[in-house]
Amino acid sequence: MPGFRRWGKSKFQKNPESSFKLLAAVLVITLYLIIKEFSHPTVHVARPPAIGAHIQFADWKNGADRADREKAEKVRNAMKYTFEKYRENAWGKDDILPVSGGHSSTRNGWGAFIVDAATTMALMGLWDELAQAVEHIVMIDFTRSDALVDPFETTIRYLGSMVSLVDLYDAGVIPENVITSEARDMILEQAVTLANCLGPAYDTPTGMPWPRVDLSKSKGVGDPPSVYKADPKKIKYDHPAVGPARAGSSILENRALTRLTGNPIYTKNSTLSWAPLVWSKWTPAFHGLVDAPIDIVTGAPVGRQRHWDAGHDSYYEYLVKMTLLAPQSDPYLDSYKTTFINATKSLRKYLGSRSAPPPPPGYAMQHLFIGRSNDDWYENRQSHLACFAPGTILLASKFYNLPEFRTYALALLEGCHHTYTSTPSKIGPESWSWIPKFGFEDPVYLPTTTREKAERKASGFWSADPGYKGRPEYVESLFYAYRITGETRFREWAWEAFEAIEKHCKAPYGYAQLSDVYRVNKAEWPSDGGGRWKDVQESFWAAETLKYLWLTFADVDVANLDRWVFTTEAHPLRMMR
Ligand SMILES: *[C@@H]1O[C@H](CO)[C@@H](O)[C@H](O)[C@H]1NC(C)=O
Ligand SMILES: *[C@@H]1O[C@H](CO)[C@@H](O)[C@H](O)[C@H]1NC(C)=O
Repeated sequence: MPGFRRWGKSKFQKNPESSFKLLAAVLVITLYLIIKEFSHPTVHVARPPAIGAHIQFADWKNGADRADREKAEKVRNAMKYTFEKYRENAWGKDDILPVSGGHSSTRNGWGAFIVDAATTMALMGLWDELAQAVEHIVMIDFTRSDALVDPFETTIRYLGSMVSLVDLYDAGVIPENVITSEARDMILEQAVTLANCLGPAYDTPTGMPWPRVDLSKSKGVGDPPSVYKADPKKIKYDHPAVGPARAGSSILENRALTRLTGNPIYTKNSTLSWAPLVWSKWTPAFHGLVDAPIDIVTGAPVGRQRHWDAGHDSYYEYLVKMTLLAPQSDPYLDSYKTTFINATKSLRKYLGSRSAPPPPPGYAMQHLFIGRSNDDWYENRQSHLACFAPGTILLASKFYNLPEFRTYALALLEGCHHTYTSTPSKIGPESWSWIPKFGFEDPVYLPTTTREKAERKASGFWSADPGYKGRPEYVESLFYAYRITGETRFREWAWEAFEAIEKHCKAPYGYAQLSDVYRVNKAEWPSDGGGRWKDVQESFWAAETLKYLWLTFADVDVANLDRWVFTTEAHPLRMMR
């Protein structure tokens, strides 16, 4: 390992004044919500869409606001194929194995694919498919599972989709002959049952969630193979510790559930869950960026990782999306907004870096990527997951009227685009590294193998994990970029990504993951194709990747960003502003 550049020593000083503020905040929220919900019990009737916000581009030319029917139809066909293969071979299981036609059940066996993909079917108007999905959804027994339940994954994939289906029905997107009002009420009941089953997750002194729930005992539990064991020399703890995404990615789903049921408990618990992040009593090294992981019993950071990548990402996403979703009268929207703005400024200052061009005659361009800070070191590595950031920052730039965020977001999106266009498959890798041009003289990662050096020479970055997991984040940001800037190049980029995925991932029973986006020629693999594909298709492929691709080619009034807020799993919720 090379030498490291040191950050200034970070401090974790307790600030007693802000513990008081946190307590006061929590009390005020609780009281406010109780009074509000009981004085105006909410919404069992359909309401016309709220006024919303001005997010989408307004000055469309040459019909660019209308659907590109041909391309939208191709993406819709990919969804139909995905559904059909699953229905024939794995109905009721969590996920199909797209190469072998087998199945897996790692999401408690409740039919994760059916639930997670249902909102995609709803937006695409796949009514037969949606009707079959709803028949399954209303029959799931969420009170039972042999395996421990992961409250984070369960909230974003199952709960989020069910709440969104109710919103889509209430807004008139789903017609009555597909979901009856009785079925709509049953879906909401299922959401309530599931949310109540997840309740024990929040039963901690801080309100931050347990990593798992044991349904048979109605009890929160730790997660033995915790990632935080990674560095036992540095991290000593007796309690489970979680990253900000676990604590901070349940408020959208639960705020909507409170609106639909009139019960304030969901908003209360999910607000308490991220309160120790938003109103932290620890002084962070970088304004707005959480030091993590965090002990769920004491609320203290037990590590010094700060980034917008896996495990942290959707906390930052939900800060801005909560300010869009909630009624303006909700308390604390200003705190969320300021925290988000601070976090984005810190991202720009401490985490983002441009790739240095390799020595001549190599590739000459520089690209902006998002690294990580870990303890005193700068990790010059980004994963595909962090490509959600351009879309989320663009959303904030429009909503908060911050043009400099827009410029920054579009530069980050160009970086993600560059990872896609640089590989032979035209699909970007799962993670990559680069040599920063400015500011970080001794980065953690250097290219060592012949392959890494060659990749760097050709494109200015080299892959760390060269696989593709069917992930949505890049096309998700393209969707936001198209809807917010109105620039047609983003539709073109999305189409290039879709064509590449269609060409390389389509498998006998669905869409497979790729082992190596740099080696996709069949000739480079054994004659049975073994190894080229991974026999995995996660539910986010249908819930997110196909949805965002399709929406990019749909009429811009479908799931209009002026009225809808997408959860981190791409389930649209109605704004309350
Ligand atoms: C709310 O949190 C409490 C712990 O503070 C927990 O006992 C309860 O089950 C939770 N309820 C819901 C619906 O989340
Ligand atoms: C945001 O950053 C400023 C300094 O740039 C700091 O004074 C302020 O307290 C921060 N606010 C939040 C909510 O992090």
